[in-house]
Amino acid sequence: MAEARQQAGAGTPGPLRLHVKTYGCQMNVYDSERMEAALVERGYGLTDDPGEADLVLLNTCHIREKAAEKVYSEIGRLRALKAARPGMVIGVAGCVAQAEGAEMLARAPAIDLVVGPQAYHRLPAMLERVARGERPVETDFPAEDKFDHLAPDARPRRAPSAFLTVQEGCDKFCAFCVVPYTRGAEMSRPVARVVAEAEALVAKGVREITLLGQNVNAYHGADGSGETGLAGLVRRLATIEGLERIRYTTSHPNDMDDDLIAAHGEVEKLMPYLHLPVQAGSDRVLKAMNRKHTAEGYLRLIERIRAARPDIALSGDFIVGFPGETEADFAQTLALVEAVGYAQAYSFKYSPRPGTPAAGREQVPEPVKAERLARLQALLSAQQQAFQASMVGRTLPVLIEKRGREAGQVAGRSPYLQAVHLEGTEALIGRVVPVRIAASAPNSLAGVLAA
Ligand code: SAH
Ligand code: SF4
Ligand code: F3S
Repeated sequence: MAEARQQAGAGTPGPLRLHVKTYGCQMNVYDSERMEAALVERGYGLTDDPGEADLVLLNTCHIREKAAEKVYSEIGRLRALKAARPGMVIGVAGCVAQAEGAEMLARAPAIDLVVGPQAYHRLPAMLERVARGERPVETDFPAEDKFDHLAPDARPRRAPSAFLTVQEGCDKFCAFCVVPYTRGAEMSRPVARVVAEAEALVAKGVREITLLGQNVNAYHGADGSGETGLAGLVRRLATIEGLERIRYTTSHPNDMDDDLIAAHGEVEKLMPYLHLPVQAGSDRVLKAMNRKHTAEGYLRLIERIRAARPDIALSGDFIVGFPGETEADFAQTLALVEAVGYAQAYSFKYSPRPGTPAAGREQVPEPVKAERLARLQALLSAQQQAFQASMVGRTLPVLIEKRGREAGQVAGRSPYLQAVHLEGTEALIGRVVPVRIAASAPNSLAGVLAA
């Protein structure tokens, strides 16, 4: 502890405090948890207030321009806090750190260290360098697996639902996307490590695990003498007693193999919800995006998945205004959405990202992007509301995750990942209970305990 205090250079009495702010995808949420656990192991306490922190880590996202800009405005705010609190260390982690590296130090003098997503196990050593007056930058993709070198989570209890990263990186190189550059090549964690981590989570009260990867269904983990795909991993995890629900995200259409589709029909613990981004409905645009699948291929795939698991709820990601997208191309995106019927979806205006192939192409004007996004979102939210409304009158198994907003209420998730609110006591937390759905709203359901 004394050593850790010295490292961060703070003179405050009591334990050092760490504040982590997380942007972007679930992978960052998981990474932040792992960094927190590793630093708690070294004597840090956690705080929600950056103003009282000795170390502030921003775990950043580079996916769209707005996401990256947020980081610099946050650093502006932190600079004022740091002026009032000498010795405060500001570290930037995540995908902006990876993309901009040492440039960040030049642009924002308040930053003390920059660490890319594959180098988190080097954080303790980097903090020692900060204490010596250095401003370290680590953006290599080291050969070692960062997770093997990060202290395990020592918390005795966990909330009922947890993330677990099993795959990282991307080899797909969609023409719009920074992820292959910020996260590196595809790699999968060995089956035994994933299983051990899942068992440890279940022992701490976890009942639902969401397996994470940038292309999680490209998972191929070492398993004894051979290799296993995601379906094999899911089947193995399903044998863990006490684990009640398994989910995975994000999957790529080209990696949905027959075994994984079959698992959706066979593995009861695998929840009937699938986030399967298609991005666009025009083959011309899909080709320009380097997606390597067609709209028709995607629709056939959905048919096969629905044949295996008829009630599966689908979610997706869409980009409007990709360079070269015409009104006719966009109409095909709307037609694809009509054909699929999504339970939920995310949609974005194309944002040119430095270093990606599409950034240099002729851009669709901003007002056209805005108008297309509004039309797409109107259709997607109508589908989402219809899906929500179709639950009313049904009894759904709900995993109760936490206390509700109001006294005497609890909140959980349906198999289709919908938030469900009901009257109940804290004793229900961590249990899967039948809930009769009485009312629906665009983003949540309300019901009563059915048994
Ligand atoms: N690995 C996942 C998701 C990656 S990023 C996949 O392959 O589907 C999450 C979503 O952000 C993408 O699915 C895409 O819809 C969106 N996105 C990525 N780059 C973008 C960009 N440059 N502009 C707008 N949206 C983008
Ligand atoms: Fe990005 Fe495409 Fe890889 Fe997804 S598959 S992370 S969208 S490059
Ligand atoms: Fe963002 Fe990096 Fe995730 S760019 S979406 S935090 S992989």
